[in-house]
Amino acid sequence: MTEEAPDLAALEEAGEILKAGGLVAFPTETVYGLGGDGLNPASSRKIYAAKGRPSDNPLIIHIASMESLTQIAAEIPEAAKRLADAYWPGPLTMIFPKKEIVPYETTGGLDTVAVRFPSSRIAQEMIRRGGGFVAAPSANLSGRPSPTTAQHVVEDLGDRIDMILDGGQVQIGLESTIVDFTEEIPVILRPGYINPDMLRQVLGQVRMDPGLTASAETKVRPKAPGMRYRHYAPKGQLTVVEGPEDSVCREICALAAEKAAEGCRVRIFCTEESRELYPAEFTVSLGARAQEETIAYHLYDALRKCDEDGIEHIFSEAFNTPRIGQAVMNRLLKAAGHRVIRV
Ligand code: TXA
Ligand code: MG
Repeated sequence: MTEEAPDLAALEEAGEILKAGGLVAFPTETVYGLGGDGLNPASSRKIYAAKGRPSDNPLIIHIASMESLTQIAAEIPEAAKRLADAYWPGPLTMIFPKKEIVPYETTGGLDTVAVRFPSSRIAQEMIRRGGGFVAAPSANLSGRPSPTTAQHVVEDLGDRIDMILDGGQVQIGLESTIVDFTEEIPVILRPGYINPDMLRQVLGQVRMDPGLTASAETKVRPKAPGMRYRHYAPKGQLTVVEGPEDSVCREICALAAEKAAEGCRVRIFCTEESRELYPAEFTVSLGARAQEETIAYHLYDALRKCDEDGIEHIFSEAFNTPRIGQAVMNRLLKAAGHRVIRV
């Protein structure tokens, strides 16, 4: 089905499955989600089991109306309402103190709840039919890149869930921006398409969670439990090379040649602007710097393809583009286990 022409019969069926406590994978504008009834503790337990996810890593509850928010969030600050006006429905998750009706199984034992109102029409129609509160992590096996196509979901979870709604490739390709409203100044717990400038325009002040950029030696951990885990990691070794374009290119060419000479399978992540500068047999262009959203859109698929192709060494340019670069680099550096060469 498509966003323009949702398959209503399939959505009805999905709604019935959710209400009966089953699991349905569904597209959103960010990535595919693995949905269960967020107010049903048994459904949330099933989600953790299907993904192989640690049960202290809380789930986002997806809603399809603003009225739903007041049923699960105990305090909604003015600033959060303004942010919702600006960017909901959309790729934004907000964290509030939870109401009692939200089970601890969904929040990983926390007294707060993460809420998102997705803009995908397929997602909205499914949420409405499924009772209005759909807990959904990304629909990948724990530790794999988030799925951006239904095929990715089939690969990871095909035999573990009740239904997959195929809405084609998602629009953005990176998970939502998470903003925590349980502290005095709102805190970004995960960067995404809604970037700090866009948040500042509405909120004035906003902080970055210091745990996001802290090095492993310091004891500062990310506040979002999911941001603490090794994530998105391909089977091969990923190295990011950062610096002026010509130095980056020279370094990547040298590293790739060295590993290829050792008999390793090598891949280079580059862009439309730079692909000509590398040996063609190694390159995968993620997109164009001039249209930076395309890089976000292709990243997870490119990482999955490396596993499929048995790639042992991946060398990637850095993608510090103005709007979505922070979100892309957050995922890329995690996938690289923070292995970075600065030239
Ligand atoms: O774009 C998205 O957000 C996708 C689609 C399906 O909506 N969902 C998604 O869910 O990325 P997941 O479970 O893969 O990531 C949710 C993140 C995790 O890092 C989790 O730890 C954090 O949100 N989180 C959820 N509830 C939280 C809470 N109450 N406090 C702090 N972090 C929370
Ligand atoms: Mg995830």
